[in-house]
Amino acid sequence: MNILGIESSCDETAAAVLSDGKVLSNVIASQTVHEQFGGVVPELASRAHNKTIWATVDQAIETAGVTMPDIDAIAVAKGPGLMGSLLVGLGFAKGLSLSWEKPLIGVNHIDAHMYANFIDHKEVFPFVALIVSGGHTRLVHVPKPFEHNLLGKTRDDAAGEAFDKIGKMLELPYPGGPQVDKHSQTGDPTFVDFPRAMAKKGLDFSFSGLKTSVLYYLQDQDEEFIKVHLDDICASVSAAISDVLVIKLRRAIRKTGVKEVMVAGGVSANSMLRNKVLAMANKEKVNVMIPAMEYCTDNAAMIAKAGEMKARLGQFDGPELKPFASMK
Ligand code: KG4
Ligand code: ZN
Repeated sequence: MNILGIESSCDETAAAVLSDGKVLSNVIASQTVHEQFGGVVPELASRAHNKTIWATVDQAIETAGVTMPDIDAIAVAKGPGLMGSLLVGLGFAKGLSLSWEKPLIGVNHIDAHMYANFIDHKEVFPFVALIVSGGHTRLVHVPKPFEHNLLGKTRDDAAGEAFDKIGKMLELPYPGGPQVDKHSQTGDPTFVDFPRAMAKKGLDFSFSGLKTSVLYYLQDQDEEFIKVHLDDICASVSAAISDVLVIKLRRAIRKTGVKEVMVAGGVSANSMLRNKVLAMANKEKVNVMIPAMEYCTDNAAMIAKAGEMKARLGQFDGPELKPFASMK
């Protein structure tokens, strides 16, 4: 089965071809226009998607070495995301589906982040997933495909959002997450003892207190000190965020008794988080899945993978498929 995946929910225009579960192409056009604003500007994102989507899909098909008749279905991200951005991908996918006479499959972007883990790993159920992206932080128990029981979620900022906002405070380029991660690698994670909010109980998260705590900390230091200790501060921030994520994931594992665990979403690219999750899983004697780097942040291979799984279940959509901005 050959699936064409299309992703345009935020600031990445992406297309991929998946053939019997194998990624034949995975093209990502990242939008650089937002850097000067320190965050994604929705209108500029939609326009950039519009400009690049055709070439991106074309390149994915060409790189995969397939042609139109080889494609069995078109999977597209239907949300959550920026409405204008989603509409570009969805409109394009619908047009292609109608003109090529191929079935359409709307895919939830967050589900796709999870099922990205099944690109390089056999599909296993049940599992517990820690989903950590720019807009979402949640723990879910998944007994079978596309049946997701929410165990916990953030009450304010998402983990990626916390990384990005703190990166901005430290005057690092946008997005802050990968930058804070890079500086953390040569820093001392015990340099500042930032708060681990709500670590003691429950499965919900809160990151807005950490953000405020970092802000106050920085206000108390002079510029030179921050410059000299940038790596130490970044490492301390990464430690605070990853500690809470791992503590909650461990609690979810113990609560559910599940033996398969995964991390998903952009923040799963974080090196400290990856190391801590692996160490914890080893201690808890559970199997852990973390996507390869290229499938952590937004990409279309994950959309194609979730699309393939839906196709096997016969879950297709028609031209009335609507985008949605946020999860209920
Ligand atoms: O999943 P994703 O690509 O887009 C959303 O669906 O939101 O996640 C993007 C988020 C951003 O907040 C970004 O800063 C964060 O993932 N991120 C990281 C790293 N790479 C991406 N955060 C920490 N460490 C990283 N290495
Ligand atoms: Zn994403």
